[in-house]
Amino acid sequence: MRTTRRFSLRVNGADHVVEGEPQTPLLYFLRNDLSLNSPKFGCGLGECGACTVLLDGVAARSCALPVRLAAEHEIVTLEGLGSADAPDPIQQAFIDAQAAQCGYCINGMIMTAKAFLAVRPNPSEAEVREALRYNLCRCGTHVEIVRAVMLAAERGRTQKAAAP
Ligand code: FES
Repeated sequence: MRTTRRFSLRVNGADHVVEGEPQTPLLYFLRNDLSLNSPKFGCGLGECGACTVLLDGVAARSCALPVRLAAEHEIVTLEGLGSADAPDPIQQAFIDAQAAQCGYCINGMIMTAKAFLAVRPNPSEAEVREALRYNLCRCGTHVEIVRAVMLAAERGRTQKAAAP
């Protein structure tokens, strides 16, 4: 017998109540109930990274995260980072480095990079490559993506050095 329950989700600073089965992946609620379409369904197995969101600041694969485990946590999607008018610095770096082709993986790349730079603001290129190792891009845009993350890190350092 299938049982549905209600879950409180805090997404991009707003509270929502959704209803569904506890094991249903968070990704389905984000896309279908909340119309947040940045997290993508790629493999559905936690392997490609297209569905990545931040869960309490840590990159998490929402296709493999049961909604019952996401409830009551702080969830941020790409929509919550910035907007077209006011992009987050990591989003701006991806734009400036032209780090996208089809764009399908970019949600996961940006969200993973955002979490990574929060704990490692001064990474080497090798560390960036390692951090993004399990985010797949079928277009082969990895070189530009790594460049974008290095650019965001460099700008972060410059901004910090210029701060009073
Ligand atoms: Fe979630 Fe591939 S869709 S990791």
